[in-house]
Amino acid sequence: MCGIVGYVGQNEAAPILLDGLARLEYRGYDSAGMAVYHDGEIEIVKAKGRLRVLRELTNNGLDLKGTIGIGHTRWATHGEPSVTNSHPHFNKDKSIVVVHNGIIENHQPLRDRLIRKGYRFISDTDTEVVAHMLDNYYNGDPLEAISKVMTRIEGSYALGVLFKDHPGEMYAVRKDSPLIVGVSDEGNFIASDIPAILNHTRNVYFIDNMEIVKLTREAVAFYNIDKEEIEKTMTVIDWDMEAAEKGGYEHFMLKEIYEQPKAVRDTINPRIKDGEIVIDEWHMTEEEVQNLNKIFIVACGSAYHAGISGKYVIEGIARIPVEVDVASEFRYRDPIIDDNSLVIVISQSGETADSLAALREAQRKGVKVLGIVNVVGSSIAREADSVLYTWAGLEIAVATTKAYSTQLAALYLLAIYLGNKRGKLEYAQYKQMVEELQELPDKIQSLLGDKERIQWFASKFAASRDIFYVGRGVDYATCMEGSLKLKEISYIHSEAYAAGELKHGTISLVEDGILVASVLTQPQLYEKTVSNMVEVKARGAYVMALTNIGNYDVEDVANFTIYIPKTNPWFTTSLAIIPLQLFAYYVSLARGLDVDKPRNLAKSVTVE
Ligand code: F6R
Repeated sequence: MCGIVGYVGQNEAAPILLDGLARLEYRGYDSAGMAVYHDGEIEIVKAKGRLRVLRELTNNGLDLKGTIGIGHTRWATHGEPSVTNSHPHFNKDKSIVVVHNGIIENHQPLRDRLIRKGYRFISDTDTEVVAHMLDNYYNGDPLEAISKVMTRIEGSYALGVLFKDHPGEMYAVRKDSPLIVGVSDEGNFIASDIPAILNHTRNVYFIDNMEIVKLTREAVAFYNIDKEEIEKTMTVIDWDMEAAEKGGYEHFMLKEIYEQPKAVRDTINPRIKDGEIVIDEWHMTEEEVQNLNKIFIVACGSAYHAGISGKYVIEGIARIPVEVDVASEFRYRDPIIDDNSLVIVISQSGETADSLAALREAQRKGVKVLGIVNVVGSSIAREADSVLYTWAGLEIAVATTKAYSTQLAALYLLAIYLGNKRGKLEYAQYKQMVEELQELPDKIQSLLGDKERIQWFASKFAASRDIFYVGRGVDYATCMEGSLKLKEISYIHSEAYAAGELKHGTISLVEDGILVASVLTQPQLYEKTVSNMVEVKARGAYVMALTNIGNYDVEDVANFTIYIPKTNPWFTTSLAIIPLQLFAYYVSLARGLDVDKPRNLAKSVTVE
């Protein structure tokens, strides 16, 4: 989604804005622009396409003079990607300029009203409404105009604003779209995400909903919507630029695939003390745990797939019914939830608009929400009743890998914890599961050693038109994520099917030479899935098997086999997903695609 960077300080702004925007590229964008204040004028430069174009237009920012400015990368929602629709947007005489991340939902009636008042629109964006509304309410006091606009616009927004007659001042606000403020001796910053400013400072403030910030070279001041000054606490970021760099890997995705053993270890180990699972962050009383009668897991994309694996595991180990919902459905379907339910919202970014709305919907119904979140201080982390952080660290590649793996680990922790507390596990069983959990990182590590073979296999299928994934139970959940990984970065059509469903229609899609990846790690379902492999092979499919070490008879049917180390069957997604991530990565690489920034996708989906 869109990225915002703003700077006011003693240095030239444009090169700092370009550098910051480059560090937000992972969020996804299709055009970019900057506005810089100099000599009583605000100069605006915009470009369609990659940041490179904006760099060329401004001679790497050197031709755009001035020490205060705002920059933006746009991911088109209202209006096609074009120079006119890219930000910054401005009022009639370019005395007020705005960059925006999010969606103004009531932009159409506001636009109609402004047109009736004589305002002329030049773009198709919802954002331009904000520029003209600021103009409409402005009487020399930026705070006054901003707060009036905030009470009238609906939807989600992070805004950066410059006023020509307030030189040296930058304003920013947010509601449901991420925005942070960075402070340093060399100047002050606004940004959509921390990496954009980490080269300059580690001292940040997280802006809360409906708060306004005023930044000058020397100071930042925070206000509520009533323009009363408020105090905020500064956070010192403890990770550094290294985390935001490729460190010798060709792509962030490969780097992040390789970081999975550490990410999973960092998520599990702090929660195991003397061989027992301790989840201090989860504020549930003993009684609430005992009375729990249903869990809802709500998330989007890969986080939703982690939730599906979680459903099998929690139901299997703790014997609590689990419903898994896509957040965009949950938020509107008026789910039936009682006081003894728990809602778990899973999100890497902690800013996904639908997941955040689902969290609020659950809380509105009086139910406690547990967030499983990666980004510390994000909206979901702050609004959830309890947060279980997944310590994956900064994830840059759009296609998630390590965050997904840590989400699985967090769900396993919860399942075993609940299974033990509710007396569903023998003590010896419980202890063994905890041990097996701790062994997962080393097993993931061992799978990474097989990458050359997978690369070779991926090159054989890089020109495929369709690829299918089939499995049963937990393996079906693994297939869903494997298939998503492939389609999002290779643009090859792919579907995941419950292997038992094939005969009910899907098998008609199978033709000569098509790759069917079969995942079969569940001992009680193994023979069933082998039968499904035989069926597709008989219709010409090339069959890949992904199964547990020792199941060597699978080679009687499979054309290509990948073995995963033995583990508790509930935890096999954590292992089986690794070769599927590598496969997707190498297919994308073989097709010469932009692995880290696939087309049309954004890392943090902050609009509905
Ligand atoms: C796929 C992917 C997306 C995200 C989804 C939710 O690789 O990354 O499907 O999983 O957009 O994002 P978060 O976890 O940030 O809520």
